[in-house]
Amino acid sequence: MRLSKTEEMMLEGRYGEACRRSLELIMAIAESYGCGELIKIKSAHVSGVSYKNIGDAGLEYIKDLAEGGAKVRVRTTMNPCGFDLDKPWLFGVDETFFEKQLEIIRSLETMGVQPSLTCTPYYSDNKPRRGDHIAWAESSAVIYANSVIGAYTNRESGPSALAAAITGRAALTKDHTDERGPSIEVEVLAKVSDYSDWGLLGFVVGKLAPDGAPLIMLKGKVRVAGDKLKCFSAGLGASSTTSIFWTAEQGLRELRDLKRVVVTDKDLREVRDGWALTRRPTVIFIGCPHCSLSEVKEVAERLKGRRIREDVTLLISTSRNVYRKASELGLLEVVERSGAHLVKDTCLVVSPMKLSRNDVVLTDSAKTAYYAETMTNATIALGDRRACLEEALEV
Ligand code: F3S
Repeated sequence: MRLSKTEEMMLEGRYGEACRRSLELIMAIAESYGCGELIKIKSAHVSGVSYKNIGDAGLEYIKDLAEGGAKVRVRTTMNPCGFDLDKPWLFGVDETFFEKQLEIIRSLETMGVQPSLTCTPYYSDNKPRRGDHIAWAESSAVIYANSVIGAYTNRESGPSALAAAITGRAALTKDHTDERGPSIEVEVLAKVSDYSDWGLLGFVVGKLAPDGAPLIMLKGKVRVAGDKLKCFSAGLGASSTTSIFWTAEQGLRELRDLKRVVVTDKDLREVRDGWALTRRPTVIFIGCPHCSLSEVKEVAERLKGRRIREDVTLLISTSRNVYRKASELGLLEVVERSGAHLVKDTCLVVSPMKLSRNDVVLTDSAKTAYYAETMTNATIALGDRRACLEEALEV
């Protein structure tokens, strides 16, 4: 493998043992993809932060790096953890979980990782520019960064994103070059409008093309808001291995011989029907991926002056950055007055919240529906955002 002078010095251990080990991991990944070089990165985003997901083995791995003096070399943010650090009681956290979760966050902070605790680092100060090479984990953020922002990142795992942060390097795969391009054309005949439709469309596209990089062809001239493409990215990442999608507006060179699939209303309806609401929900979750400020504004507008039912927990999840702005704008107060909870740092999927067979979780996110179904005994339902809020509110 061709290494720069600095990379050779890292490998000799001159930047410390933790950096040497991290470089070895990046080189092993590069070799497995058949790449002969590494690329310098400008930022990293680390997943695998919740103690629920990584357990003691993950905690020890991170602690070991921190105690070995590892420091990140680029701006690095972290994915959500198991609970809102200011409202742990909402998430059924016991003392052991609480302590171990804090240990993970402290160790990452010791290495210089910002405690952003969000899957939408691009809404805070880790927003790459078009053309930047970065090393991000968290599939929804990876797909958004590549497809919507125009950055270049592999679909990193938690450990590889952390190793990339420590070395400032990633494997120079096709995802970091302009050789990346669509491998399947998806004609969308289905009608999509709400956030939930976009998340579901992404999920269905991923199911139809689980290993492909889809080129999405929409009917007519449609301008889609970034927040909806964020939901699409999350759905797509949950059901496929892709790190990117394309749209016809991206000025692609002539493409020939792409396999073509069509998504119709029926395709979306079939998945929706599998997650139909059949009983009153006990938990309603909005904010996968974490809500932007304008989404929080829309939710607050609907909740303003109304109360949610006593027998339901309504969680709206966002990043710390957006939470702070929502608080300054009085939106937090509006949400709390309704009896709902605006939460940060976490989400339903990575929290240890105990859900029983008697619970019914209603969400507007196909990604949350998919994971909650596999990880809990609760009944799962998917609805659009308006229906989720109306279900929660007293009549
Ligand atoms: Fe984010 Fe949790 Fe969804 S990490 S993308 S809100 S599953």
